[in-house]
Amino acid sequence: MGTLTPVLTDIWDADRSWTLKTYEAHGGYRALTKALGMEPAAIVEEVKGSGLRGRGGAGFPTGMKWSFIPQDNPKPKYLVVNADESEPGTCKDIPLMMANPHVLVEGVIISSFAIRAHHAFIYIRGEVLHVIRRVQAAVEEAYAAGHLGKDIHGSGYDLDVVVHTGAGAYICGEETALLEGLEGRRGQPRLRPPFPAVAGLYASPTVINNVESIASVPSIIEHGAEWFASMGTEKSKGYGIFSLSGHVTKPGQYEAPLGITLRQLLELAGGVREGHELKFWTPGGSSTPLLTAEHLDVPLDFEAVGEAGSMLGTRALQIFDETTCVVRAVLRWTEFYKHESCGKCTPCREGTWWLAQTLAALERGEGSESDLDLLLDQCDNILGRAFCALGDGATSPISSSIQYFREEYLAHLTHGGCPFDPVASTVFADEAVLA
Ligand SMILES: Cc1cc2nc3c(=O)[nH]c(=O)nc-3n(C[C@H](O)[C@H](O)[C@H](O)COP(=O)(O)O)c2cc1C
Ligand code: SF4
Repeated sequence: MGTLTPVLTDIWDADRSWTLKTYEAHGGYRALTKALGMEPAAIVEEVKGSGLRGRGGAGFPTGMKWSFIPQDNPKPKYLVVNADESEPGTCKDIPLMMANPHVLVEGVIISSFAIRAHHAFIYIRGEVLHVIRRVQAAVEEAYAAGHLGKDIHGSGYDLDVVVHTGAGAYICGEETALLEGLEGRRGQPRLRPPFPAVAGLYASPTVINNVESIASVPSIIEHGAEWFASMGTEKSKGYGIFSLSGHVTKPGQYEAPLGITLRQLLELAGGVREGHELKFWTPGGSSTPLLTAEHLDVPLDFEAVGEAGSMLGTRALQIFDETTCVVRAVLRWTEFYKHESCGKCTPCREGTWWLAQTLAALERGEGSESDLDLLLDQCDNILGRAFCALGDGATSPISSSIQYFREEYLAHLTHGGCPFDPVASTVFADEAVLA
């Protein structure tokens, strides 16, 4: 279990790994040839059988999502790749698209063929121009090689791919807000039902999948569902990219079977930075409740992380050592949610503002212990009452940090401010950023 399983990351250190030439030299586009010789429904069954679950955070079974596309609906079908990647700490899709954009393009072609779509969109956040250029170049290379366009490799199948640039908003990663953005409107979530599989892009049946989900498809087709399912745990199959960041000796992407533990990953990553110890961490980005050193041996799969009181999310493992003030870290995240709230619903629009106010006062050492209850009450008024999961996510760092570090909150009150030495606290020392 401690071993890495480089599949998506396999050729990242190859010379010019992002080119078609390098990708094909390492077996790229072989799966496409195989897929074009299969029935689309058989591809859906293969992906179902692999147990692949969405890598964008929620973990919904990918093959099952594809099977919801009503094939008797005469409207066009669409595939949309969610490459918005804006969750604080999440940093796997962007390196994947930079290092090996063709595995995504190949995945897009196979997945579109499987759901019988003739148009696919890759929605990339606008700030990452270098990634947009790289994916665009890969798409152009794929067209030139006949992997895209009309009558792909004589199969009679046509597919066009559009690389779409978002305008840079966290909420546009939420799948229905993304569709609004793609259609040229303000990025705000849609009411569901209808779900995108029934009425998504341009009110047509649409599959929306994360970059890593789609990029995993070629390997499943090439090696088979059983091969994929032989990795991981009973209900969380396969491999995934684990992104270690923060106070860790060798931060980066570690591709491993689901179910690996943070302790094992830290061993691979040289441990927490020298002379320091783990204080808290996020298993899947800032929207997933914090965990602590007592959770080092929790298997990182959907079930076990859930049982430990958090969520696997995007496997964005942000590591914080004892020099970090948890109140300040949580305040920084809360400022982010306040800024990124799209304003559509009251609990989140007003609530995130109040959360930031209450937290900022506590961080300055103002107020009393009852303000902690006030903060939890504010969380309670958002959780489960907001229109989309952004609001729920905003409460996760707050309620979990109070659960594990109540004393530290109280120390701010008795100390009249942050008890941490701002020089020692290397990550959160910049007061100006918070001002
Ligand atoms: C506020 C918010 C932001 C999200 N951002 C992303 C994102 O950047 N990338 C992503 O794949 N999914 C994101 N999601 C999840 C998507 O709504 C959706 O579940 C996902 O794209 C489905 O793909 P999957 O089944 O392959 O995981 C976000 C959800 C929310 C609520
Ligand atoms: S929860 Fe927040 S981001 Fe989601 S719809 Fe409501 S205001 Fe917008």
